[in-house]
Amino acid sequence: MPSFWRRLLGRPTPPLLPEIIQHFNHRAADEEHFPSTIDPHIYHVQLLMEYFGGLDGRRVLDVGCGKGRFARVLQEHYPQSRIVGFDLAEAMLRYVPAGVCACAGSMTALPFLSESFDCAYATESLEHAVDIDTAVREMCRVVKPGGRIAIIDKNVEQWGKLPTPRWEKWFDRKQLERLLGKHCGKVSSREISYWADVAPDGLFLAWLAEK
Ligand SMILES: C[S@@+](CC[C@H](N)C(=O)[O-])C[C@H]1O[C@@H](n2cnc3c(N)ncnc32)[C@H](O)[C@@H]1O
Repeated sequence: MPSFWRRLLGRPTPPLLPEIIQHFNHRAADEEHFPSTIDPHIYHVQLLMEYFGGLDGRRVLDVGCGKGRFARVLQEHYPQSRIVGFDLAEAMLRYVPAGVCACAGSMTALPFLSESFDCAYATESLEHAVDIDTAVREMCRVVKPGGRIAIIDKNVEQWGKLPTPRWEKWFDRKQLERLLGKHCGKVSSREISYWADVAPDGLFLAWLAEK
């Protein structure tokens, strides 16, 4: 595995990467905690659809897609969209639905041309990227000027609320706003909950950015 990554990324394997790959390849069998579907009414899904608008004919990147539960809903709503589900764990990618293009690699070295997507999003995956600055820079690089980026992840103020593997990081609103602001013009963030009519409990944050 290390030599595969060295070849793929053209540089030494980041020390934690083999462990993270093994972790998620193993967890792919756990459908309860890593589901392959999501209720489209959940606000995390609604937010992406509201922010991105119509996706038919547009290229969309799901960064750290896991089994592609978000991509599945977007693809069903917008059958003419071209969605790429990108993830480190090939065992996760086996669940990505037909119609979504599955691609393996690390979000810290996206194998895509600059400005080749209309939108990109990462849901609960940036927290595993280890090198957060590089992952955010990569997401922004592959999105076209005027394109939109959404990140949904956990709030560092709630750290400890859930068990976490040793590499996981949660985020401060301003910290990610600043990172996105290096590459994007309009950046905002807010607390979100699973349901539009339930007040957020502070665990999840959404960052929205326009390049
Ligand atoms: C908690 S799961 C979330 C999956 C999906 N976004 C969802 O909401 O269902 C985190 C995912 O991030 C992936 N991941 C972790 N590090 C990654 C990296 N450096 N590049 C790409 N994907 C990564 C894992 O393999 C895993 O599938």
